Amino acid sequence: MKTLVIYSSKTGFVRKYAEWIAEELRADLFPADRTHKSIFRSYDTIIYGGGLYAGGINGIGLIKKSFSELEGKKVIVYASGASPWSEKVLNEVRDKNFTAEEQKKINFFYLRGGFDLTKIGFFDRFLMKLLKMKIMSKKKKGIRLDGDETGMINAMEKPVNFTKKENIKELVDRAKK
Ligand SMILES: Cc1cc2nc3c(=O)[nH]c(=O)nc-3n(C[C@H](O)[C@H](O)[C@H](O)COP(=O)(O)O)c2cc1C
Repeated sequence: MKTLVIYSSKTGFVRKYAEWIAEELRADLFPADRTHKSIFRSYDTIIYGGGLYAGGINGIGLIKKSFSELEGKKVIVYASGASPWSEKVLNEVRDKNFTAEEQKKINFFYLRGGFDLTKIGFFDRFLMKLLKMKIMSKKKKGIRLDGDETGMINAMEKPVNFTKKENIKELVDRAKK
């Protein structure tokens, strides 16, 4: 069984998980920008990881455009955001990024990443400010923040790293099955 792990990572959290997963599964590992969908044919299992940016999975277009090449293969996708893991976050991210039809073709996981404002570019910094303003205005209006929003605000204050190797266990087990 040949396994490929590919990832799109802006500040390193998704890459860390990709490295742990590839090591555990003795899989080939490539950043998505050095991959073309034509290489999928050489593998039985494809694992894709991307960071969450305003709810969207970074680079997920590569998988969404390749379902015909992925036919008959095991496809696993993980997203990493700053929000703590919860069933709600997992379902929301999956439903926002994949249609019901696409969800039947993938195994989806949410692995909590981290947040490092010192490593993000100008555009993401700007987006982050907008996101923070939106959450803070909700707070000012007395609207209760949910778990992801509180988590995001706390994570914005200083670099935080929530990656843990044990988080990959379920994903690795699914890949081995
Ligand atoms: C502009 C911006 C938007 C983000 N949006 C979300 C989000 O919607 N949900 C979330 O949980 N984390 C969000 N994050 C945090 C990132 O998903 C988190 O830092 C992730 O671990 C990044 O992984 P990477 O550095 O490997 O790309 C956002 C970060 C930035 C900079």
